[in-house]
Amino acid sequence: MGRAKRVVLAYSGGVDTSVCIPYLKQEWGVEEVITLAADLGQGDELEPIRQKALDSGATESLVVDAREQFVLEYAFPAIQGNALYENRYPLSTALARPLIAKLLVDAAKDYGADAVAHGCTGKGNDQVRFDVAIAALNPELNVLAPAREWGMSREQTIAYGERFGIAAPVKKSSPYSIDRNILGRSIEAGPLEDPWTEPPEEIYLMTRSIANTPDLPDYVDIGYEKGIPVTLNGQSLAPILLIEQLNAIVGTHGIGRIDMVENRLVGIKSREIYEVPALSVLIQAHRDLESLTLTADVTHYKRGIEETYSQLVYNGLWYSPLKAALDAFIQKTQERVDGLVRIKLLKGTGTIVGRQSHTSLYDTDLATYGAEDTFDHKAAEGFIYVWGMPTRVWSEKSRQMGG
Ligand code: ARG
Repeated sequence: MGRAKRVVLAYSGGVDTSVCIPYLKQEWGVEEVITLAADLGQGDELEPIRQKALDSGATESLVVDAREQFVLEYAFPAIQGNALYENRYPLSTALARPLIAKLLVDAAKDYGADAVAHGCTGKGNDQVRFDVAIAALNPELNVLAPAREWGMSREQTIAYGERFGIAAPVKKSSPYSIDRNILGRSIEAGPLEDPWTEPPEEIYLMTRSIANTPDLPDYVDIGYEKGIPVTLNGQSLAPILLIEQLNAIVGTHGIGRIDMVENRLVGIKSREIYEVPALSVLIQAHRDLESLTLTADVTHYKRGIEETYSQLVYNGLWYSPLKAALDAFIQKTQERVDGLVRIKLLKGTGTIVGRQSHTSLYDTDLATYGAEDTFDHKAAEGFIYVWGMPTRVWSEKSRQMGG
């Protein structure tokens, strides 16, 4: 008896996921492997990947263009939540996992599969994200993770694949592990494993090195409606196009590189490099627009929500009840986050230089130091008397106590 009869496998075209196909069949007695490759804007050619799955023994090879869904349902909510894990990483990889899990679960239903599978190892965050998301969407479905159990080295994995007609990578394989989608690239391993080693310039593809960026700035105006970016330099753009165009221009100025040591859920510290040009600027600008359109208390309260939200997304709890509750809070706050933010892009830095909104709470007559000032200065005195009361009482007590 095999572990499952019919399995839908998340497929990337790489060695590990390709080897999963014969492995599931030979070692775990799976009868049919259906592969699913999701196009999330990683820029790979999909037809060769579709064919490779069939050549590796898949019964059926599905390719799903999920780019728009990815941007609309996963990236945009994260922008509204100003989601940055450990205050820095905008979750470009983490956001893709719950969507891939959903595609797997849907395909399993359509094709009558009794299990789904992925090629994650046992050390990363992604296995957690897949397994938990799949369990949330269909608790009955089995999840198979061959690479978590097979214990093969890279060489052994390649050799195993060759026995089943899976060609070893033609190029001398890169020492890096790279994950990529429309939002950005995550790069780890190889020389980057030493946190003291400066990232070699060769790892970057979406962002220029400062030495090669223009000497003159570009300005971009990003328009938001209810916290969602909808225009670029005055032009309404479809979600995918907006991200792509912004990636190009922001990357040209070398903006959006992050080099960090982060805390994985499984307790390991890892050094990861990210390049997330559009996403980093979209969060920066969104946050600025919120400072113009939200009240002080909502802005401050939301910071705490954002931190929890980012941790939930990082830790694989996208489909959890707490995440749904935080979503409701965040959506409510976005009702008036409309307006325009202007960013100056130059030499690796995006600087916000202007913002405007028809929902702006900024009142020039209150803020000005000029003659138009409408603020009642006398009212400040009574306010400060009451505001400072607890501190004054404390201080008087200290004196009486001889402190
Ligand atoms: N550390 C990031 C995360 O957990 C990215 C993981 C994938 N990175 C990679 N280089 N393959 O979301």
